[in-house]
Amino acid sequence: MVSEVVFRSVRHAFGEREVLRGIDLRFDERRVGIIGSNGSGKSTLARMINGLLTPTSGTVTVDGIDASKKGAQVRKKVGFVFTDPDTQIVMPTVAEDLAFSLRRSGLSKAEVADRVQEILVRFRLDGHAEHPSHLLSGGQKQLLAIGAVLIRRPEVVIADEPTTLLDLRNARVVAEALDSMDQQVIVVTHQLALLDSFERVVVIDDGVVAFDGSPENAVPAYRELVQ
Ligand SMILES: Nc1ncnc2c1ncn2[C@@H]1O[C@H](COP(=O)(O)OP(=O)(O)OP(=O)(O)O)[C@@H](O)[C@H]1O
Ligand SMILES: [Mg+2]
Repeated sequence: MVSEVVFRSVRHAFGEREVLRGIDLRFDERRVGIIGSNGSGKSTLARMINGLLTPTSGTVTVDGIDASKKGAQVRKKVGFVFTDPDTQIVMPTVAEDLAFSLRRSGLSKAEVADRVQEILVRFRLDGHAEHPSHLLSGGQKQLLAIGAVLIRRPEVVIADEPTTLLDLRNARVVAEALDSMDQQVIVVTHQLALLDSFERVVVIDDGVVAFDGSPENAVPAYRELVQ
């Protein structure tokens, strides 16, 4: 089962400046990449999928649910991983941070503890459960941030440049974490190699879709735009 993320005639302006200029997209693939130049509108677009940002006009829906009107409902289905894990990590220890994600889940203490343990093991953080979150390495912090999203068992995970701040090794660890997810994944990135195995890559240029197709074809299309 995959969710369907649909953009219909989406425009967005910050003040006078129009940064998305008519986006029509329907995502129902398991792996979608979004690439494009700095300032082209990728993050603006990604944030709309879980209602972090409301389009100036047009609609974004996830399985038919309007992301800006029913934000809470959509955020149950869609998790968001930010570039900088420090903005996402809120609790003093690793285990507490994971449990915090489930604070309004209605799960029992034992269920929360089970899920925390499952994520700790999955991301090799089990030796760090009581470790201060802010003392983790950059890669471990991003794994914790991803874990804090996955622990809620979303159907779709959006990640906005999740490997940008990481060195090569940690970037690979995070790429593997994204790769291993059962969830549908939509990744914004400048690290094009991350998308080799993706089903679909969309190139955004100056607020419009400039290319939409396979990763093999998207990368040359993007290069051509830049030249
Ligand atoms: N909160 C905001 N207020 C005003 N302008 C904004 C705001 N957020 C983004 N912008 C502008 O909107 C445009 C698109 O920004 P966006 O962050 O979506 O680009 P991006 O494609 O994600 O770029 P990057 O690759 O650098 O992350 C940019 O010109 C940016 O300056
Ligand atoms: Mg961005």
